[in-house]
Amino acid sequence: MPKQTTSKPADGSLQKKADGSFPEPSTEVKAHSDQLKQLIQQTIKAQGGQITFADYMNQALYTPGLGYYSAGLKKFGKQGDFITAPEISPLFSQCLALQCIHIMQQTEQHILLEVGAGSGIMAIELVLELERQVQLPEQYLILELSAELRDRQQQAIKARLPHLYERFVWLDCLPEKPFSGIVLANELLDAMPVHLLRLEPEQILERYVAMDSKDNFIWQDDIPENPRLQKIADNIRAVQKPLAHLNDKPDQPYITEVNLQAIDWIKSIAEILTAGAILLVDYGYTATEYYHPQRSMGTLMCHYQHHRHDDPFYLPGLQDITAHIDFSGIAHAANDSGLNVSGFTTQAHFLMAGGLVELTKDLDPDDIVHFTEIARQIKMLTLPEEMGELFKVILLAKDKTLSLPAFKFQNFQDRL
Ligand SMILES: C[S@@+](CC[C@H](N)C(=O)[O-])C[C@H]1O[C@@H](n2cnc3c(N)ncnc32)[C@H](O)[C@@H]1O
Repeated sequence: MPKQTTSKPADGSLQKKADGSFPEPSTEVKAHSDQLKQLIQQTIKAQGGQITFADYMNQALYTPGLGYYSAGLKKFGKQGDFITAPEISPLFSQCLALQCIHIMQQTEQHILLEVGAGSGIMAIELVLELERQVQLPEQYLILELSAELRDRQQQAIKARLPHLYERFVWLDCLPEKPFSGIVLANELLDAMPVHLLRLEPEQILERYVAMDSKDNFIWQDDIPENPRLQKIADNIRAVQKPLAHLNDKPDQPYITEVNLQAIDWIKSIAEILTAGAILLVDYGYTATEYYHPQRSMGTLMCHYQHHRHDDPFYLPGLQDITAHIDFSGIAHAANDSGLNVSGFTTQAHFLMAGGLVELTKDLDPDDIVHFTEIARQIKMLTLPEEMGELFKVILLAKDKTLSLPAFKFQNFQDRL
């Protein structure tokens, strides 16, 4: 694959092997990956020869000091492995800020909590826009799993917003005391470890990670230990039943991911949120699209220096591993926890209806360099073949339903 600046996925169904055309890591960086590999190998041995893929992914991404998100590698942006919407353009965070103002007006909540803040750029641009609109929050809380990223966020925010720095508070875990406010996350759920299921006509298996005689990681399919997975597999089968006529390979196994952590996360946020809303942006589908027979290899994907491929065992710690979001599953978890799904739309519709037009109306077309650059950013955020269609925004409200301008163009929540 040619070197290119990729936003996260263009499409989920990917079958591309990691190969020799990928940039070789330096000896030092390779040693880092080997060290993490050994740790995972030890875990597999200690657990009797296999671990769930969720455990593998968790170690590969979040082992302190070594995991992909927990070590000092540059991950986001042109020099990293992928680029996210807030890194592409401040317009993304500015539109979110405008929607936060609408939520604040309807709920009287003036505390924001961002979970998984990456480089901190979304927090910076969002708070700058709130300042411009004279709607600064009392506090901007950040919950970040990676100590390394938390450091990076603190440095970036101190440098860009020294006059507002004291409004930022970093948390180690969700607030223990009930909390009211707005919870925001961009590309958080897709970074949570997933279980892999292999649905066969007669049985349901989980894909575990084991080792061959040379200690290389290999797949090992076995009965799922967690009873929740069996129940979810039954639900997936029920979604697939009406689509069976579209399946031209009914005898072949169907591989898919289950993000139990995302479901649990929604439930824990719902429990501590006394009032307010949750606004989540990520790539994914409704259940009927997610479990479509054609997506028989699932949506698991890896990003290594702007190359996309499907081998999660390649250079652990040096590449991102991710899976798309089943937004119907998120909506069900939300409903079960007493949240109201108040909006679901594509990123393009969300931004177009949510302020993009007003934010760019004073651009000077004679300033060709600036104008062209903003046009490029908008294209990346909104074109269907870029991030516009695959990325979705879901709004979950506590206590009452909310109405936001950003969902007024198109609200697809009845498809969830
Ligand atoms: C794909 S990155 C997205 C970063 C940023 N939101 C952006 O859009 O550029 C995922 C982020 O979520 C963080 N993360 C993953 N799981 C988390 C959790 N359970 N709690 C808090 N942060 C988490 C990662 O460390 C990382 O900062």
